[in-house]
Amino acid sequence: MKRIGILTSGGDAPGMNAAVRAVARKALSSKLEVCGINYGYKGLVEGNIFEIKEKEVSDLIQLGGTTLYTARYPEFAEKEYQLKGIEQLKKHGIDALVTIGGDGSYHGAVRLTEQGYNAIGLPGTIDNDIPFTDRTIGFDTAIQTSVEEIDKVRDTAKSHGRIFVVEVMGRNSGEIALRTAIASGSQAVIIPEKPFDVDEIAGIVKDARRRGHEHQIIITAEGAIHAQDLTDQLANRGIDNIRGVALGHVVRGGAPTASDRVLASRMGSYAVDLLLDGQGGQAVGIEKGVITHHSMLDLFDSKAKTDLSMYDLANTLSY
Ligand code: F6P
Repeated sequence: MKRIGILTSGGDAPGMNAAVRAVARKALSSKLEVCGINYGYKGLVEGNIFEIKEKEVSDLIQLGGTTLYTARYPEFAEKEYQLKGIEQLKKHGIDALVTIGGDGSYHGAVRLTEQGYNAIGLPGTIDNDIPFTDRTIGFDTAIQTSVEEIDKVRDTAKSHGRIFVVEVMGRNSGEIALRTAIASGSQAVIIPEKPFDVDEIAGIVKDARRRGHEHQIIITAEGAIHAQDLTDQLANRGIDNIRGVALGHVVRGGAPTASDRVLASRMGSYAVDLLLDGQGGQAVGIEKGVITHHSMLDLFDSKAKTDLSMYDLANTLSY
């Protein structure tokens, strides 16, 4: 193996740059050449590929987003596009690939591996919804960002004695919402994994107000119910002085926390070790503090488990 490629794909996540840096530094120090592929699988198909030299990954570890750019590219599920991607890999002399992203990124990597290219996947998504890893790159930062924003909302909530419903990202996963709820001291949390009843939430809010909790924060994951919809429904149930705020894509931005940088660095270096060992089709993870790998095919047969003990804790502590 002489040359490896790196791409980021799907929703960007803080720490992706730190992962790119780690892959590049480890590869260069192992005397491999490194190519960056802009805009994920779309850029691969279009041949948006360039060589990464040593200095190009300097001053990168602290940056949010992805300087390799990213894209959602469902077309890559089709064989025609995969073959075009492989043609580009061959043209640029790239022997193996490291992909950093979520579920879609892994599917792309598996298809390349099936075509005889070694590809390794790193879990880069704020959602923390990838199996066989306790944490994904970007998750810690997304919680930190959400909590910092909610602390600001709390200032104005307190000043006005208001209820605020705050929406965080998470189309299919309540992981960000749960940690954010605990760390921001919320009154209630709503996630896609748990059915909820608006009458019950209205009851919780009213009861807490009766006990003197004039201002309260309710966290919802976008995939459960949008902040404004829940705000309207609670207002219709007689809860006054209530507002809704959607944090939206703010949750995905910002400089990665130290913890995400370290995780990305460990995983990036490990990915190159796997490739040097001739292994492809593997997904890197962290389990009980140890960096591990599993066949990507096993990943597709499993589903990431949301830690529902966090749900119980958030509800207990909201009393
Ligand atoms: O990256 C995952 C995620 O952040 C989800 O939580 C969210 O629903 C989605 O991306 C939004 O994606 P987009 O930016 O493409 O609308």
